[in-house]
Amino acid sequence: MKRLKKILSYIWPQTTVVSSQRNGNLEITTYNGKKVLNSRHANYSFGSLQRILEYGLSKIEMSRLHSVLILGMGGGSVIKSIRQKFNFKGFIRAVEIDEKIISIAKSEFNIARTPDIIIENADAFEFVQNHQKQYDLIIIDLFIDNEVPRQFYSVQFCNNISKLVTDGGYVLFNLGIDGVMPEEAKEVIACFQAKSFKVELFEHVGKVNTLLIGHKNPG
Ligand SMILES: C[S@@+](CC[C@H](N)C(=O)[O-])C[C@H]1O[C@@H](n2cnc3c(N)ncnc32)[C@H](O)[C@@H]1O
Repeated sequence: MKRLKKILSYIWPQTTVVSSQRNGNLEITTYNGKKVLNSRHANYSFGSLQRILEYGLSKIEMSRLHSVLILGMGGGSVIKSIRQKFNFKGFIRAVEIDEKIISIAKSEFNIARTPDIIIENADAFEFVQNHQKQYDLIIIDLFIDNEVPRQFYSVQFCNNISKLVTDGGYVLFNLGIDGVMPEEAKEVIACFQAKSFKVELFEHVGKVNTLLIGHKNPG
């Protein structure tokens, strides 16, 4: 069936709709043999979003990293990017609130738990409040449809993230997809700067995304 869909997708996009309580209707669409995951108004995984995060990752010294924490796993495209495009061989922990999405990531995009990929079904806000381990890179890509839930622009969240980044480590934060930097993001920038991060902002990535890259105590 999956194979037939792939062949037919060269003639016409093949879409399956899956309903999720948290994320509304999700569409798994195969077009010209390539499968993507979309919410109602946004690409979630394996489309433009994957290219946007890859742009951010290209600004980071990936070869020096040993551990990555991903907040907002979605269909797992950034896991594929860091493994395949950036040749990252270290440990990955991915946190995702929506069980439906975790099951889509596994069944549709072959994202599997392995000894060096741990998938946590948890709320990222609570997770970083209680977690102790540090990571060389934290990727923050938390959306419900096309909105970043407001609590992720808070100083409390930023303080918790800061503690979980190793010295010399990085934060890659997808701040929004509105085309302009969200007003609330200013507080996040100030907070990371106060915690000894060198902050760089990249606006209009893929036309509408704003990415923040924070480098902790760059030396
Ligand atoms: C754009 S998708 C992430 C795509 C993913 N980074 C990738 O590379 O494929 C955003 C994800 O954030 C998740 N999310 C939203 N709020 C969350 C929360 N409070 N805790 C954990 N995940 C959350 C959504 O369920 C959704 O799967």
